[in-house]
Amino acid sequence: MDKLIVHGGTALRGSINISGSKNASLPILAATLLTGEPCIIRRVPDVSDTNYMIQILSALGADVERSSGTVRITCEEVSDRAPYELVRRMRASICVMGPLLARKRRAVVSLPGGCVIGDRPVDLHLRGLEALGAKVEFEGGNLILTAPDGLRGAEIDLRGTHGPTVLGTDNVMMAATLADGQTVIESAAAEPEVLDLANFLNAMGAKIQGAGTRRIVIEGVPELHGTEHTVIPDRIEAGTFMVAAALAGDGVTLRRVCRDHLKSITAALEQSGHCVEFNAAGDVCTLLRNGQTRGVDLVTAPYPGYPTDMQAQMTALLATTPGISVIKDTIFPQRFMHCAELKRMGADIKVDHGTVVVRGVSQLSAAPVMASDLRASAALVLAALTAKGATEISRLYHIDRGYEHIDEKLLMLGAHVERVKDR
Ligand code: EPZ
Repeated sequence: MDKLIVHGGTALRGSINISGSKNASLPILAATLLTGEPCIIRRVPDVSDTNYMIQILSALGADVERSSGTVRITCEEVSDRAPYELVRRMRASICVMGPLLARKRRAVVSLPGGCVIGDRPVDLHLRGLEALGAKVEFEGGNLILTAPDGLRGAEIDLRGTHGPTVLGTDNVMMAATLADGQTVIESAAAEPEVLDLANFLNAMGAKIQGAGTRRIVIEGVPELHGTEHTVIPDRIEAGTFMVAAALAGDGVTLRRVCRDHLKSITAALEQSGHCVEFNAAGDVCTLLRNGQTRGVDLVTAPYPGYPTDMQAQMTALLATTPGISVIKDTIFPQRFMHCAELKRMGADIKVDHGTVVVRGVSQLSAAPVMASDLRASAALVLAALTAKGATEISRLYHIDRGYEHIDEKLLMLGAHVERVKDR
């Protein structure tokens, strides 16, 4: 297992390209199961999560060719059973369930395990697919969904106790594209990644309106065809590097971003006193060294609110921002694995039932720390950029799940980082 050694104190300068979105790529790759024709998807990031998804699709029978960020995939003949040994490694593999059910009228997918950010139920996915006519059984750790007479359109409300479900919306939307009649999804997730998936499905011949809002209407069609698509920029990777620039930057430029997707992250950074500038097209952003910064209060919320996937990274920044900050995660109330590690580096953080109170200290200090979930690990890298000394971050595979070549990008910005093999 690799680890990353980050020598703190070097100012970041220069520019990097932001990769395609991991969280848009995963459901779009799964959606290729809905047709037997070839699909070409560009800007798929080379991260282990997308590699797992490609392995799952290959195991289902897809023919996959990949050259750098472009994936060419044909699901001419596919099995209806997703392999447990692959599915168990990634929660997002649940999003093969909807397309498999629609294409094969049967889907066997292992129930995803929990993970360090908390319980990961799928009740809302099942609520939606049952409403479309699927019968749901549970056997040997597998979900078995069947719809021998095909799926039929329905009115579905997908709201859960923690708000909308992103992959649940994706699953139901994908299944509904081949259902008989009209489906209306109320309380749908409005994340940009859901809209990107809908754009991909419409390019395949689906009839989807309202994606990107809380109400999505899908007119079922008999079949879908192949298409080509370029995945949207990864707004969480962009946000992570915006925080790196806010922490340690002295003129950092990020290319291939999408300003509209970054509004809540930009607002939080500006509220804390940082200066974020976009070009006219909104696809390049620059962060300049800031003057006075101050603590902020943050509450995560479904898009367009502040993203839970950026909560840990902002906590790392606020750990050395003067003043008190209060951070609440309404989506994953247990998503504070990074706090214990940040405290080992000298952060003044108190965690209390889904809320974190941070008192900014002047500087953190290096310590051997351990990555846990994808975004918590990114927060540790960020904190190490200005910590005194060299911080060793072990279990780097957590970061490699969702950040494409993070060490290379940090090196391009002048950071003093080195990836070493853990003996
Ligand atoms: C997606 O996960 C993202 N993953 C997550 O990013 C992100 O944190 C999450 O959405 C929230 O924005 C991908 O897109 C691959 P949810 P998803 O269903 O869809 C509850 C990352 O770091 N819920 O929107 O699995 C759930 O427990 C990852 O890139 C139910 O109660 O999350 C949570 O509290 C981590 N029942 C809330 O809803 C369900 O059936 C939102 O979860 C489903 C979810």
